[in-house]
Amino acid sequence: MAESTRTLDWNGANGDHWVAYEEKYNAAMFRYGERLFAGADVHPDDRVLDIGCGCGQTTRVAAALAPEGSALGVDLSAAMLAQARARAAAEGLANVRFEQADAQVHDFADGAYDVAISRHGVMFFADPVAAFANVRRALRPAGRLAFVCWRAPEESEYSGVPRAALGPYVTLPPPGGSAHEPGPNSLADPDRVREVLGGAGFADVQLEAENEPMDLGADVAEALDFVLDRPHVHAALAETDAATGAKATEDLREALTPYATPEGVLLRAPAWLVTAHAPA
Ligand SMILES: C[S@@+](CC[C@H](N)C(=O)[O-])C[C@H]1O[C@@H](n2cnc3c(N)ncnc32)[C@H](O)[C@@H]1O
Repeated sequence: MAESTRTLDWNGANGDHWVAYEEKYNAAMFRYGERLFAGADVHPDDRVLDIGCGCGQTTRVAAALAPEGSALGVDLSAAMLAQARARAAAEGLANVRFEQADAQVHDFADGAYDVAISRHGVMFFADPVAAFANVRRALRPAGRLAFVCWRAPEESEYSGVPRAALGPYVTLPPPGGSAHEPGPNSLADPDRVREVLGGAGFADVQLEAENEPMDLGADVAEALDFVLDRPHVHAALAETDAATGAKATEDLREALTPYATPEGVLLRAPAWLVTAHAPA
């Protein structure tokens, strides 16, 4: 399979990590799924395309919202797709399918989908204009696009709090992605989003600022485990000695403690809900 996304090892260690932490990521991003479906307005007979579907939670929700239609989830990660298929089978969903595909270059059938969705799966394209143009071709005339992507990384507690706590002890790679580099923050700039989607042939591009938190766990101990096991944090701490690692862990625990609420350990993670239409 041709692969346009080279910044993160999705069809490898990173995908495996997401499978191992599937339930935690689903819980962490639950609120973004709700915002996504509010923007996508899936109809009962819609044919839905879920881009970068990962372990397929949003694809399964889309299939349930479109009982007379269907949902196709595409992703780079074979491991995440295997998990997605197993979950869909366990839920007895007959109108959902998953395919290993690079959404930037995959040969989707022209006009085959009514709506394309993504929960944080569209920031990793090497050539975003080409990728979104490919998605637009897969949509029927006036078909809808709705996705959530990260906004304003400098205002993100989810990104910033662990970095500030661990920074004195370890060197973490910079938060990835910019207007010129694929990665989680590549669509943070609203002008860039309009430029990319306009260049890809979409119309009526709308961005709505979301301030949902990421839920890192039921309590501080769970949140601490979640952060410590993220691949870039784990790798950085593996390079320190035991005493430094213990101090870093303690500082991280203290930094997360003020975010504990009865609803979970909630860290603000600003995002955009982006909607657009293919030309009629
Ligand atoms: C942050 S994860 C989100 C996964 C999923 N949407 C969710 O909400 O759990 C990003 C996903 O995008 C996928 N991805 C990245 N680049 C892709 C591409 N070019 N084509 C298809 N999927 C891609 C990754 O494999 C990964 O599963």
